[in-house]
Parts: sequence; C-alpha cells; structure tokens
Amino acid sequence: MSGTQLAAATAAELIATQPGRLIGVSLGPGDPDLITRRAFARLTSSARWAYPVTGPGARSHALEIACRAGLAVPADALALHFPMTRDRVALTAAWQQAAAHCLTALAGGRDLAFLVEGDASTYSTFGHLAATLRDLAPGLAIEVIPGVTSFAAAAARLAEPLVSDAGVLAVIPAAYGIEVIDRLLDQCDTLVLLKVNPLLDQVLALLERRGLSGHARYLERLGTAAERVLLGLDGLHGSRVPYLSLLLVKNPGRHATPPAPMASSPLPDPPTGSPR
Ligand SMILES: C[S@@+](CC[C@H](N)C(=O)[O-])C[C@H]1O[C@@H](n2cnc3c(N)ncnc32)[C@H](O)[C@@H]1O
Repeated sequence: MSGTQLAAATAAELIATQPGRLIGVSLGPGDPDLITRRAFARLTSSARWAYPVTGPGARSHALEIACRAGLAVPADALALHFPMTRDRVALTAAWQQAAAHCLTALAGGRDLAFLVEGDASTYSTFGHLAATLRDLAPGLAIEVIPGVTSFAAAAARLAEPLVSDAGVLAVIPAAYGIEVIDRLLDQCDTLVLLKVNPLLDQVLALLERRGLSGHARYLERLGTAAERVLLGLDGLHGSRVPYLSLLLVKNPGRHATPPAPMASSPLPDPPTGSPR
C-alpha cells in the first residue's frame, strides 16, 4: 500500500473513532529554558510523542531539546522521516507517509504531540504535516503551541533589537538567491537569512560589496553547548556551516520611511455580548 492509500484507509478508520488531537509542540531553538510552560505540560501529559528525523537513525534536534529539559523519551515515541530535499515529489510522499503514521496513532484516541524546534508556525515541517492531515481528516482537532523562533533567540543572544520603531524586518531562507537578497536589503532595516549554508560565500560577497559585513552577525546552534556567535564574518569565507545557522543583517544606511499615521477612526464597538 502506498502512503496515500494507507493514509486514506486510516483516515476512514479515524472518522469512526474518537481520535486524539494533533499538537504542534514548539520547543524553541535549543535552550530548554526557552520551552514554554504549555509545551512542557503537553510533553508531560499522556500524549504520545512524535518527532522529525531526516532519515533512519538520524538525530532529531527537537528531541534533543526535550532531552536537555530532563524529559525521558517515552518508549513508544514515533520517529517520522522527512528527507532533507527540495524535491517536491519526495517531500509530498514523506508528508503522506508521516500523516498515515499519525492517523494510525490518533485513531487510538490518544493525543499526539509533534516536537518542533523553534516555533511550529515558522518554516516548520509541522505546517506541512498538519495541512496533509487536515486534507485527509478534515474534522481532526489540531492545537499549535507557539514558541521562541531561532531569530528571536538570536537577537536576544546579541542583546540587540531585531527591529525597532518603524523598521522593516524580513525573514527568508537564503535559497531565494542573491538577487532577491540584494533587493530585499534595499527595503529592509533587518534581514534574517535562514538555511544559509548552500549560499554562504555568495551572501558574504554581497554583504561585502554593499558594505554591510560589519553589520552582519552569524549565529550557529543557538542554545546548545556547541553555540557559536560571530560578530564579524571574516572567519566564515570558504567554510561549510551547519544547518542550524543563520545570519542577522542590519542595514543602517536604509532610511525607513515611517508609515503614514492611520486615520483616527476608532474601532467599532463589538456586538453586544462579545468578549472585548
Ligand atoms: C526549517 S527552519 C526552522 C525555523 C524554526 N521553526 C524557527 O522557529 O526558527 C531551520 C532554520 O532555522 C534556523 N535555526 C533553527 N534553529 C537554530 C539554532 N538553534 N541556531 C541557529 N539557527 C537555527 C537555521 O537557519 C535553520 O536552517
């Protein structure tokens, strides 16, 4: 049976039962102290755990964060495979396969807590998994617990604002390419580049050309024992960096035009009986 057929079969089964909820449990970027109380509560509830891995036997950063918080991995925790590829067909097959496993687990009636590094709503596999499950089982209850993003933690680590006043912030994966990054730099006061490894040298050259190297910060494996923070980018040329790394670039030369003040029309009163 293919992942899709399996998912369809288990979705039908699920509809006939009282399924558990799917919970996207954000764990923050690495430091277990940044796990929210709500996320911790879900992980210590009766929910079954599921966590992403890139292949059989691969380590899971999300699972490691939970372990660093002192939590023991339950024996029935479910490893779900999401390959590191941009091949849409392979990715869709992986989401279908993972969704099928989730549906089988949820059909038993227990909640399923999917562990997510950073924030579950920000460039996360959880978004694809939840969307696939929603398609297969439209009535499925899904809870998302928000978390600290890698770039919020990066700004905090530097003790610098991510963006202030009327500043413009953009967050993109570096894979958009140098032209897009160059154009965005014209429009942003702060640019966060995620997944920098494949384009690192080209990005470094661009920042140098634009005179922004001194305004860029490189942060790697934030919140772990292997954390590395570089205030200058010199040591980075020609190096391969890990997946868990980002660049935070400030563009002090850009003069933000503050948005025009909004017309001072007060919000209408909510309908009677609505919460305020
Ligand atoms: C698929 S995105 C996930 C983003 C994540 N959901 C968040 O809220 O930040 C993965 C990218 O996030 C960044 N990232 C996540 N955790 C990080 C960490 N601990 N240190 C540095 N960068 C991190 C890296 O750029 C990595 O390539």
